[in-house]
Amino acid sequence: MPGIILLGTQWGDEGKGRITDLLAANMDMVIRFQGGNNAGHTVIAGNEEFRLHHIPSGILYPETLCVIGNGVVVNPGVLIEELEKLAQKKIKTDNLRISGNAHLVMPYHIILDKAGEQSLGKSRIGTTHKGIGPVYADKAYRSGIRVQDLLDLKIFRTKLEESLKLKNLIIKNVYGLEPLEMEEIFENYKGYVNIIGKYITDTSFLVNNYLDLGKLVLFEGAQGTLLDIDHGTYPFVTSSPTIAGGACTGAGVGPKKISEIIGVAKAYTTRVGSGPFPTEVNEGMGDFLRERGHEYGTTTGRPRRCGWLDIPILRYSIMLNSIDNIALTKLDVLSGLDEIKICTGYEYEGQLYQDIPPHQTIMHKCKPVYISMKGWKEDITAVKDFSALPESTKNYISEIEKLVKVPLSMISVGPERSQIIIRDRGLGKNILNKNKKPLLVL
Ligand code: GDP
Ligand code: IMO
Ligand code: MG
Repeated sequence: MPGIILLGTQWGDEGKGRITDLLAANMDMVIRFQGGNNAGHTVIAGNEEFRLHHIPSGILYPETLCVIGNGVVVNPGVLIEELEKLAQKKIKTDNLRISGNAHLVMPYHIILDKAGEQSLGKSRIGTTHKGIGPVYADKAYRSGIRVQDLLDLKIFRTKLEESLKLKNLIIKNVYGLEPLEMEEIFENYKGYVNIIGKYITDTSFLVNNYLDLGKLVLFEGAQGTLLDIDHGTYPFVTSSPTIAGGACTGAGVGPKKISEIIGVAKAYTTRVGSGPFPTEVNEGMGDFLRERGHEYGTTTGRPRRCGWLDIPILRYSIMLNSIDNIALTKLDVLSGLDEIKICTGYEYEGQLYQDIPPHQTIMHKCKPVYISMKGWKEDITAVKDFSALPESTKNYISEIEKLVKVPLSMISVGPERSQIIIRDRGLGKNILNKNKKPLLVL
């Protein structure tokens, strides 16, 4: 039962799509377990770039079953656009499955998300405006509409009528906006069933059957640990559990079925939207990282906030997720610098914090404590072997490994499939791929 969880260790956009695609070559199934189309996962294969929002990043492999699990929220219109874009690029999508228990993003969720943000003014979260908060709120309030409701339009209609009554009152009376038309929404969603109906199933049985048969299942996280609804920098978080525990609820498997947990970490840190970010660098280096790393949102196009690598955050992620191995991404972006900083703790009112401080005010106001590492000038984008990296690059990697006490097993030096250094650090040693070889000996 080799279930492998792969998730983001920072504030999202760590390169989860890129690493998922790499591993998916050996996977029987890739399953998304939370989030919705707030996620933007980029996969580059040959000359093609794919930006995936709902669809798991294993979709380029026709023999890998790609599952949208029960914990995901689905905007069917956007999902259909994604399917169409893949079809235009000749990617087959027969291997997609969607959980009937996943919740539907409705047009009123998007309006409420945007209007709610606007009314917060300066205190806004900086959401992606995809309706994510409102749809998860409805789920918890038990007034959500599920994907399976699309298969019984009478039930769908009743639920929509009930929901829309209240939502239109808020849209009109609280926000002063135009109420939505029931029939229009109904007709649109009715149309969606014809396209996505064939993919809908009970995916919890599917994933458990796969695991029981000894097949390889990769659970692909979205967002990042610091955006987790419980453990992230609340309220500047997303509305779902992004941590490893969330993979079990969001896919419908027990924790004993998970055998390995991989954390994806960018070689520096980025964040989109508001909230504390102790190692943020505003000008100079911040601009350098943004331009060199093309740090603009995959989903919204917004410039990402950039800063140095933050070890307390990585250690927190390792603890919350039981991370066994780290995939370090975008190391190539740091080439050319004289000095690279690593944050090892925070200082606030004379006290040093080596872990995430107990009160978030400290996260907002603290000063990062840095160690300074020598940079390297060489272009490392073609390096395939750890030993061929410049000495300073190796030192940077070893220093991180020493500080976080978890092996850095994969080092990504570019967005393309071949631009990866796999190190013999134990990752996947006990997991055999389809050819009965250790997973990561490529
Ligand atoms: P995700 O949301 O975690 O899947 O990450 P995104 O796809 O939103 O953002 C990561 C971006 O970095 C994408 O544009 C990737 O193509 C790119 N990328 C991933 N790994 C590397 C790398 O090692 N080097 C460089 N230069 N770019 C990378
Ligand atoms: P991937 O999967 C980076 C951020 C938003 C905002 C907060 C809440 O590509 O890593 P939401 O729309 O979820 O209510 O917004 O979370 N956010 C992400 N940031 N990467 C993502 O996904 C994100 N998904 C949401 O910017 O700060
Ligand atoms: Mg992204």
